[in-house]
Amino acid sequence: MKSIIRLAEWKKLRDKSITGKLVGFIPTMGAIHDGHLSLVRQSIRENDITVVSIYVNPTQFNNHSDYENYPNDLDQDQALLVDEGVNYCLLPIYDDLYSDRYHFRINETNYSKIMEGKMRPGHFNGVLTVVMKLMNVVKPNRMYMGEKDYQQYQLLKDMAKAFFMDTKIILCPTIRENDGLALSSRNKRLLEQERGIAHQFYHQLLTNNPPDVITDELERKKFHVEYIEEHGGRRFGAVRLGKVRLIDNVEI
Ligand code: PAJ
Repeated sequence: MKSIIRLAEWKKLRDKSITGKLVGFIPTMGAIHDGHLSLVRQSIRENDITVVSIYVNPTQFNNHSDYENYPNDLDQDQALLVDEGVNYCLLPIYDDLYSDRYHFRINETNYSKIMEGKMRPGHFNGVLTVVMKLMNVVKPNRMYMGEKDYQQYQLLKDMAKAFFMDTKIILCPTIRENDGLALSSRNKRLLEQERGIAHQFYHQLLTNNPPDVITDELERKKFHVEYIEEHGGRRFGAVRLGKVRLIDNVEI
C-alpha cells in the first residue's frame, strides 16, 4: 500500500499508473473498524484498484470537543488497510483540501435539514463538500458507503446525480457487534455500564412500536433520545448515552 499525503503527488500517480483501471473508493475519518473494512473488502472484490482516504474533516463537526476527541491511530489504521490489500491510502491535509478556506460549500436544502442535519447544523454541508472534493481528486468508478449512515449515503447519491458525477455510489450493510450494536468509532468511548445497555437502541428500532413508544422505552432505560423518525420505509434514530452519541437505522 502506498500512503500519500499531498494531493499533487496523488494526481501525478493517478494520471501515470491508474488510467484505464477500475477504481473503488472508501472515504473514512479513520479509527478503522470492521464496518470500514467490510466496505474495503467489497471494493477489492469489485475493482482493480482500491483507494481509502483517512481525513477527520473539521467542517462536518458542529461540536468542537467531538472533533478534538475523535479517536485517531494512524499507524494501526494503515496496518489494517495493508492487511486487506488496499492499494492507496490518502491522508490529505487541510491546506490541500481546503485551499479556498471553505468559502465554497455544497448546500442541500431539503433532506439534509432533517434528522442528523437538524441536530447537527452545518454537518451535511461539511460532509457533502469534502466528499465532492475527494471524489473529484480520486475520480473513482465506484464509491462505497455504509448503511449505518443512511441519510449521508442518500444525500451523497442524490448529490452525485444532481451534479452529473459518474461515480456509482454503493450501499453496504451495517456491521454490528454480536449483541446488535452497530460498529462505530465512538463506541470506544462508552463506559462499561453504558456499553452494557447500548445494544437496546438497535433492538428498540426493530420493534413494531411507533416512534413515540420507542422514545419512551429508551428514555426509561436512561438513553437521551434526540429523534426517532420514519422516512421512506426506514426507521432512524439518534440517542445519547452519557457523553457518546449513537445513530442507527433499520428497514421497516
Ligand atoms: P466514517 O464515520 O469514518 O465512516 C466511513 C464509512 O464507513 C461511511 O460510509 C460509514 O457509513 C461506514 N461505516 C461506519 N460504520 C459502519 C458499520 N458499522 N457498518 C458499515 N459501514 C460503516 O462517514 C464518515 O466517516 C464521514 O462522514 C465521511 C463520509 C468520510 C466524510 O468525511
